[in-house]
Amino acid sequence: MRLLAFLSLLALVLQETGTASLPRKERKRREEQMPREGDSFEVLPPGNDVLKPDNYGEVVDLSNYEELTDYGDQLPEVKVTSLAPATSISPAKSTTAPGTPSSNPTMTRPTTAGLLLSSQPNHGLPTCLVCVCLGSSVYCDDIDLEDIPPLPRRTAYLYARFNRISRIRAEDFKGLTKLKRIDLSSNLISSIDNDAFRLLHALQDLILPENQLEALPVLPSGIEILDVRLNRLQSSGIQPAAFRAMEKLQFLYLSDNLLDSIPGPLPLSLRSVHLQNNLIETMQRDVFCDPEEHKHTRRQLEDIRLDGNPINLSLFPSAYFCLPRLPIGRFT
Ligand SMILES: *[C@@H]1O[C@H](CO)[C@@H](O)[C@H](O)[C@H]1NC(C)=O
Repeated sequence: MRLLAFLSLLALVLQETGTASLPRKERKRREEQMPREGDSFEVLPPGNDVLKPDNYGEVVDLSNYEELTDYGDQLPEVKVTSLAPATSISPAKSTTAPGTPSSNPTMTRPTTAGLLLSSQPNHGLPTCLVCVCLGSSVYCDDIDLEDIPPLPRRTAYLYARFNRISRIRAEDFKGLTKLKRIDLSSNLISSIDNDAFRLLHALQDLILPENQLEALPVLPSGIEILDVRLNRLQSSGIQPAAFRAMEKLQFLYLSDNLLDSIPGPLPLSLRSVHLQNNLIETMQRDVFCDPEEHKHTRRQLEDIRLDGNPINLSLFPSAYFCLPRLPIGRFT
């Protein structure tokens, strides 16, 4: 009987907030299907997934309940990062004291809803109504965003592709220390505050192709994939030794920009560096290999693209001795 009461309340709250709620398995499945590089991905319209009676068992599942309580102590901080005052506060939310773990599952769901009710500047709507929030992933593709919306504290994966975001401010990702992936492909980003990403120590993938960047901000050292293809990057916009401390960097994609030199030094972790279609005319002899260390090899760095540059790669015969493979480009 208590279960039934909980379920009806839950259904009510869901209806009221319009928040899409998915059973745990479904969420897991969708998270696993997270789009990879260049994949197109279908936006899930919010509020489409209505609880069906046969899902109820899973919603009450205890591990799921635990996951939902996570939100409690994060509520105040989300309010701080909010760019505009919240438009509405659900009555259910005010009955739940943030940070108080409740023994009654009915109290946890409204807290979650409350968290999601930080407002979104463009539409005056909460982020997770405009975007789709699934577990620690936030999907905001193709919804005419002009700014990064306030994000739940637990966000680990952000997809905000195909929008009209033009700048990233220092406070946009402040405190989002769980962020692992930021994908802002195909926006209008022309400036990023130098501190916007600096303290995101969990960040692994920074995906920024098809924007209008002329310079890179300070990057956190844990990045594994940096994708800044199809921008307006100039060599003067990359700090000297910008990548040296990035000891986990494996994929550096800088093709189709305005670079006139190969940025270096490149960390030993690097497996792939794409610099095709830039303005590179020459290279330092030691950009890939250390001339003093003739026994040294760089087995990982298998994929160097320099095609589509004015450089004649034949002119630097001593630059490749440590590589497992010659760079791709013009040798004649
Ligand atoms: C590229 O360099 C090689 C080796 O010096 C030279 O034989 C060749 O003519 C150069 N190609 C161009 C287009 O200058």
